Amino acid sequence: MENLTRDDIIELLKDDSQNKELFSYADEIRKKYVGDEVHLRGLIEFSNICKRECLYCGLRCENKNIDRYRISPEDIILYAQKAVEMGYKTIVLQSGEDSFYSAEVMCEIIKGIKKLDAALTLSIGERSFEDYKAFKDAGADRYLIRIETTDKKLYEKMHPHADFENRIRCLKDLKKLGYEVGTGCLVGLPNQTIESLANDILFFKEINADMIGIGPFIPHPQTPLNDEQSGNFTLALKVMALTRIILKNINIPATTAMETLNPNGRIIALQSGANVVMPNVTTTEYRAKYEIYPNKICINENPTKCRTCIENKIKSIGRKISTDYGFRKN
Ligand code: 5AD
Ligand code: FES
Repeated sequence: MENLTRDDIIELLKDDSQNKELFSYADEIRKKYVGDEVHLRGLIEFSNICKRECLYCGLRCENKNIDRYRISPEDIILYAQKAVEMGYKTIVLQSGEDSFYSAEVMCEIIKGIKKLDAALTLSIGERSFEDYKAFKDAGADRYLIRIETTDKKLYEKMHPHADFENRIRCLKDLKKLGYEVGTGCLVGLPNQTIESLANDILFFKEINADMIGIGPFIPHPQTPLNDEQSGNFTLALKVMALTRIILKNINIPATTAMETLNPNGRIIALQSGANVVMPNVTTTEYRAKYEIYPNKICINENPTKCRTCIENKIKSIGRKISTDYGFRKN
């Protein structure tokens, strides 16, 4: 499976007869390029308020059947501090696209967290070059913004009033500013083709992404896609494995959405190319409210419980918890 062409990728995605070989080859590449260490990133979901209308997402502004919350800058920093005390070497701040967190407010949060001994990742959506620059200058290290799909027509259908070119602009600006950049896609969106998934993987390579998050689409009852079928776990795993095989030394999380579709999803992903897990470190009171999709795992757990749970699972498959910041290996 060296030097896969677009046709090879399509063939492998369509045909399930070589899945076992594909997953074990991705596992080998993972071991060779990034080793046995698993990086844990402490995820704080700090606001579920969002001005966007993504058809698949439970946080979309048209969803009135959701209890919206915002965590204050002070509390965000406090939760980050607790996560660092628990051993996390990276904090990930994620939210809907919530204008309350202006560049000024975000920079205050970033500076507060950067006083702690941790790398910082932001996942707060599309912003201007100036905002991205301000966050970087304040100390942010990484940024996650999934392209979701590279099929422009499908992208536009899934994201009313959004601009595909602006999403690309964001990725380019972030790279230019020196962030480690994470992107990724959903697998199983209505009318998504296998060919477009192959293009997604090639796109990740082309922009030289440092991290790739891949998850199956899970229909949310309070969205226009409520009657659609869920994405396929195995297909999502295959897109992830191929991404490992082609991009080699990047960081790839075993995503929470994978575990939602399969009770052992994250461990299976860690054995098929993934090397990162992002446990939730948000306090229990907010977890159920950050319902991007239904049946999210860990909504009744607390940060300590999740840390212990995932550590034990990782150790049970003979892997180690990394104690470094987990930047991309060169
Ligand atoms: N199912 C699976 N993943 C989803 N996301 C948003 N809505 C859903 C859904 N219904 C993913 C998007 C986004 C990430 C934070 O969550 O890919 O980038
Ligand atoms: Fe939350 Fe297992 S990671 S309980």
